[in-house]
Amino acid sequence: MVPLLGTVPLVPAEGIMIPAPTLAAPVIPAQRPAPQTSTRAPATSDQSFRFEVAVVGLGYVGLPTAVAFASGGLEVLGLDVSAERLQSVRAHDVDLIEEDLERLRQVNRGESLTLSADLSSLSQARTVIVCVPTPVDQHRTPDLEPLRRACASVVAYAVPGQLILLTSTSYVGTTRDLLVDPLVARGLMPGTDVDVAFSPERIDPGNTTHPQSSVPRVVGGASPASGLRAADVLALVAPAVHTVSSCEAAEMTKLLENTFRAVNIAFANEMADVCSSLGLDVTEVIAAASTKPYGFMPFRPGPGVGGHCIPCDPHYLLWQLRAQRVTPRLTEMAMSAIDARPTQVVQRCAQLLAERGRAVAGARVLVVGVAYKPDVADSRESPALELLDRLRAAGAVVSYLDPFIPSVITPAGLQLSSSLDLDQELDAVIVHTVHSAPSYEWLRDQPLVLDATYRLRDLPHAYTL
Ligand SMILES: NC(=O)c1ccc[n+]([C@@H]2O[C@H](COP(=O)([O-])OP(=O)(O)OC[C@H]3O[C@@H](n4cnc5c(N)ncnc54)[C@H](O)[C@@H]3O)[C@@H](O)[C@H]2O)c1
Repeated sequence: MVPLLGTVPLVPAEGIMIPAPTLAAPVIPAQRPAPQTSTRAPATSDQSFRFEVAVVGLGYVGLPTAVAFASGGLEVLGLDVSAERLQSVRAHDVDLIEEDLERLRQVNRGESLTLSADLSSLSQARTVIVCVPTPVDQHRTPDLEPLRRACASVVAYAVPGQLILLTSTSYVGTTRDLLVDPLVARGLMPGTDVDVAFSPERIDPGNTTHPQSSVPRVVGGASPASGLRAADVLALVAPAVHTVSSCEAAEMTKLLENTFRAVNIAFANEMADVCSSLGLDVTEVIAAASTKPYGFMPFRPGPGVGGHCIPCDPHYLLWQLRAQRVTPRLTEMAMSAIDARPTQVVQRCAQLLAERGRAVAGARVLVVGVAYKPDVADSRESPALELLDRLRAAGAVVSYLDPFIPSVITPAGLQLSSSLDLDQELDAVIVHTVHSAPSYEWLRDQPLVLDATYRLRDLPHAYTL
């Protein structure tokens, strides 16, 4: 059991240099040895808590976050409204990188991670971290319901002395609207009774080169002291923490990061189309441009974007700005171009089939990889689902193969299971995602392969967009 805050001196842990937050605040090198949350706290800090950290929402972000704090020696409460998810976490039946999976087994064995669906136990946690989903609906409108509900629970069970840290990506002003103002309405003054801060999560699920523990964090508090207290807590699990002047600056940081990616992916797709019209191989050109040691960062073309970030986050910004009658045209164009990409893939497939005297209607088309990116079991917002729907709507006989995703239900309601029957001749194969594990040798024997990943350059009969 770690010391409770009341037993910890109210000074920064030795060696941690935490500067006053300014717009140009430096990165704080993290010190890991002290297994305790912040030594900074509001006046009511002598309150004792059963848990050092509670994580609300144990999804792709929340689970590794909870595991990181628990394996650092803290008593952690993991909360999720989904009984099914809690059961999967208990059974270790979750999509984590191997290192995190092993840590989950250890913290479950050591009982430092308590799992629960009872949000009223939030009042027993010194630090509350909110990691619930912030998706968009079919009209690309932000669906704030899960976040509103989670924040309402956090506010309802907030107690003096807590630090509340929002990490879900959302529009600028969310922390103020959903936490600060409702806490004030409840009579809890942020900065005096409780601390409130926003720190965008930057995890890249499945990425073993840049695991969560290696990625610096950005944080902004509702007050300078809240920002510093949140930075102390994050420094326990992140290699560095960069403080900004406000929750809003931290919220905007995440939107800028992911809008940057969206715009560059749209640009890479455009350049792929340009190279194709000029008879050039875009991958060769990108590889060549990447030899420039400054001023260039490679982005790859592909079939579109999926997952919970790039297809969603820029829409939070666009949605917010629409209310102000502000139109960030470049971002809007990038998101439209990205949205149109799966249609382009289907049109290219139809064109290639037509060149072989085949119509899409009646053609047998297999999509390889429906996960939104390699080596994850996540098909949320995956362009592959739209490919399947569009091909099916055009009359194709569709199937897919993905060892990570045994079955899918597409937005149009098509239910499919992963399968490959090489005895059945395929008219076309569309490569959407290439995982590292299975062999793709069998693709060599296929008469028509549309490689929407631009990664299978050596394959005979392979075409790009
Ligand atoms: N997945 C990513 O790659 C990624 C990366 C960086 C940031 N983010 C952001 O992190 C946030 C969380 O994303 P995610 O991918 O982990 O979502 P997720 O869908 O994987 O998981 C969210 C979990 O929260 C639970 N939940 C929903 N409402 C709840 C409530 N009121 N109380 C308790 N639990 C609740 C759900 O049951 C689910 O298990 C989003 O804002 C997302 O944009 C995601």
